[in-house]
Amino acid sequence: MAKVTIDGIETEVPDGTTILNAARQVGGAIVPPAMCYYTSLKESGGNCRVCLVRVAQTSSRDARPLPKLVASCSTPVQDGMVVENITSPAVLEARKGVVEFLLINHPLDCPVCDQAGECDLQDLSYAHGLASTRYEEERRTFEPVDIGDKIKLHMTRCILCYRCTYVADQLTDERRHGVLNRGDRAEIGTYIKNAIDNDFSGNMIDVCPVGALTDRTFRFKSRVWFTKPLDAHRDCDKCCGKVVLWTKGEEVLRVTGRKNKYGEVHEFICNECRFERKSLSDWVVEGPRHINRHSVISQNHYEKINLVALKKEVERQIQFQKGKTNGNNPNALQA
Ligand code: SF4
Ligand code: FES
Repeated sequence: MAKVTIDGIETEVPDGTTILNAARQVGGAIVPPAMCYYTSLKESGGNCRVCLVRVAQTSSRDARPLPKLVASCSTPVQDGMVVENITSPAVLEARKGVVEFLLINHPLDCPVCDQAGECDLQDLSYAHGLASTRYEEERRTFEPVDIGDKIKLHMTRCILCYRCTYVADQLTDERRHGVLNRGDRAEIGTYIKNAIDNDFSGNMIDVCPVGALTDRTFRFKSRVWFTKPLDAHRDCDKCCGKVVLWTKGEEVLRVTGRKNKYGEVHEFICNECRFERKSLSDWVVEGPRHINRHSVISQNHYEKINLVALKKEVERQIQFQKGKTNGNNPNALQA
């Protein structure tokens, strides 16, 4: 076991655990964000750099800090290691820079993107992004590639996290796509369309952290925060059959795998459950899906109303209005 201190909180984890997973063991705000690492996909991580942290002390035997920020998803802890995430101004500054780079070529089409409300990049932009762009050059564009009637590829939204290639590699019968070319010409290979026929290929949608791969059967049907997510299951001879149904009234708009609080699917589901079982009678409904993420999707969630938070918000609004009426700076009240 190794003792590691992250943002002043000490925890003990098995040797070989990465800094990211050690932080997840503690939980809360000290957990670095992750856009490419995915626990159940082997070899994932190390691409997006949003999980950078500062190692202020390498180990109990070596008190020196590491010279550069490191990717927490691929750096194992050492006994006595001291790590800084949100307590390091250098980390927050670097994360801002990474988000700015990720947004260089990412179109600002959240208002029409099906991923809006559950997009990791959208959340990160709110937390670390700039209000404007400094990028003046022409943005990347790609010839649209039709990858079939189930999944929609928007290459301009892709952040090249490689998760979908790992899904194709590790879950489907045969991987037929990958990242072609390098630098600003890098793109998910056109042979992705050959992989879509494979069962389990729909999981690429669930692992994609942005709106580059979205569910065509759900496309433009509803904003995700207007849907009611329900836990449901069925007997399936191909997968676990445990899913989330995204419903509106009696209609099942979308079926996805169940994700944990870090946005990772617990158990991958087959294409039949995802694309072909769109009737409530196909499923045994267990109850409302607990949404514990901080993004817009959890706003107005009907499962549980936090009365204390609601009361505080109402009081804040009253103060805000009073401030406006008295000519005070209302922002001061927010602070
Ligand atoms: S399509 Fe999505 S999952 Fe695949 S590399 Fe791009 S961002 Fe990652
Ligand atoms: S999550 Fe660590 S580099 Fe992407």
